[in-house]
Amino acid sequence: MNPESGQREMAPPGVDPTVPSVARMYDYGLGGTTNYRIDREISDKLWAAAPDLPALTHDGRRFLERVVRFMVEAGVDQIIDIGSGLPTANNVHQVAQAINPAVRVVYVDNDPTVHIHAQALLSGDERTRYVDSDARTPAQIINHPHTQRLIDFTRPVGLMYLYLLHYIADADDPYGSVRRVLDELASGSYLVISHVTQEGTDPHLHATFQKVFSGVIFRTKAEILRFFDGWDIITPPGMVNVSEWSATGDAPGEPRALRAWTAVAIKP
Ligand SMILES: C[S@@+](CC[C@H](N)C(=O)[O-])C[C@H]1O[C@@H](n2cnc3c(N)ncnc32)[C@H](O)[C@@H]1O
Repeated sequence: MNPESGQREMAPPGVDPTVPSVARMYDYGLGGTTNYRIDREISDKLWAAAPDLPALTHDGRRFLERVVRFMVEAGVDQIIDIGSGLPTANNVHQVAQAINPAVRVVYVDNDPTVHIHAQALLSGDERTRYVDSDARTPAQIINHPHTQRLIDFTRPVGLMYLYLLHYIADADDPYGSVRRVLDELASGSYLVISHVTQEGTDPHLHATFQKVFSGVIFRTKAEILRFFDGWDIITPPGMVNVSEWSATGDAPGEPRALRAWTAVAIKP
């Protein structure tokens, strides 16, 4: 319902405005307008427990820019971004192609709102494509015609799961799904993960998440490190909070009420 008029909010076909969307809540945190009342209500409850949550959302985007720049300057010219979210400022392909216009990017997300907006943003861009798929169906992502056309799996790829894997329960085998993609990648490929954790997170905020948005799995550092098994984590910085990750030591590292372990690794 629209809060002003009492009417049901308008939404494009395939999008239910009464079901909360992580992508749209994240958009709200970034100051975007692609969100509905349900997204704002849940976000507002979380922000009441931790007013710096939107700042953490911005930390995530700044990290995205740093890590994409890092990979492209290291020579990566093909990127798969799983759980890409709604288009905003400085999307992966824009950051990457500003450094090397030849970089190819495949975005993947399972949210219908993201699908609509990504299609609109990317129409006409032959080096960047959106794949409407799910991180839990890795073979479908790998075998999708867009992925097969843009990504050469015999050469290094930058694979990104930013703020995504904490939405996938162990029962859905996130480790197996990530491993399926990693096994496809050539030596010299990069794996980037940021993942919220209870370690260092304000207990009041954690309790609020359990109450208003229980689909987030707060894994431990050890559990998150398991995603990188067999790969070489880039050290320094190693696995650090999202705002602290920088290969050149120039990240501000501001403490937030919600912590997110973050690392980048290379396939040996
Ligand atoms: C918090 S947003 C992060 C967006 C972006 N990665 C970033 O860091 O700016 C998480 C995104 O993951 C997507 N997502 C959640 N579960 C997913 C799944 N099983 N498969 C694909 N995408 C998923 C959501 O739709 C949302 O767009």
